[in-house]
Amino acid sequence: MITKNIAIASLTAVSALTFAHNGATGVVKERMDAMEAIGDANLKLTAISRGREAFDLDIVVASAQTIAQHSGESLLALFPEGSLDEKSESRAAIWEDWSEFSSLAYGLETTAKELSQISDESEFNVKFRAMAKNCGGCHQSFRAKK
Ligand code: HEC
Repeated sequence: MITKNIAIASLTAVSALTFAHNGATGVVKERMDAMEAIGDANLKLTAISRGREAFDLDIVVASAQTIAQHSGESLLALFPEGSLDEKSESRAAIWEDWSEFSSLAYGLETTAKELSQISDESEFNVKFRAMAKNCGGCHQSFRAKK
């Protein structure tokens, strides 16, 4: 009986960890969640840009607004100096080159806002690519794939 309880307790602990983003806590977990919201919105835009989904202005506007909300100042607030732990994919280079990191965070906000203001499909691809450059640019320098 005791053995069984221990087994159940450790199973519960394992699944709780999985739900908490593989054990990330505090501000690291908060920014992973924010990045995931950005990532989910970006998937919808990517599907449209690749022609897997039909162009839908409402979806584009809502997704771009979600990305804009999580970028700029709100993104930077989730990166207090030195906030790294073993779960984080962030690199220490963020705080060594904060001006480059911030300019990509603000760049994402500006371009996502511009994308959220398009009025028809003809503007979509150019604005979407301009926004997506910030994702790739930042990840390349400041995110370590684990
Ligand atoms: C200013 C820099 C920056 C920009 C711009 C940026 N990211 Fe990130 N992103 C990061 C960093 C740093 C991490 C790693 C966070 C951590 O683990 O501490 C990350 C992590 C992620 C993750 C993984 C989240 C998880 O589950 O752990 C996804 C998905 C993601 N970004 C998508 C995007 C997309 C899509 C865009 C553009 C629309 C974008 N990011 C723009 C810096 C950025």
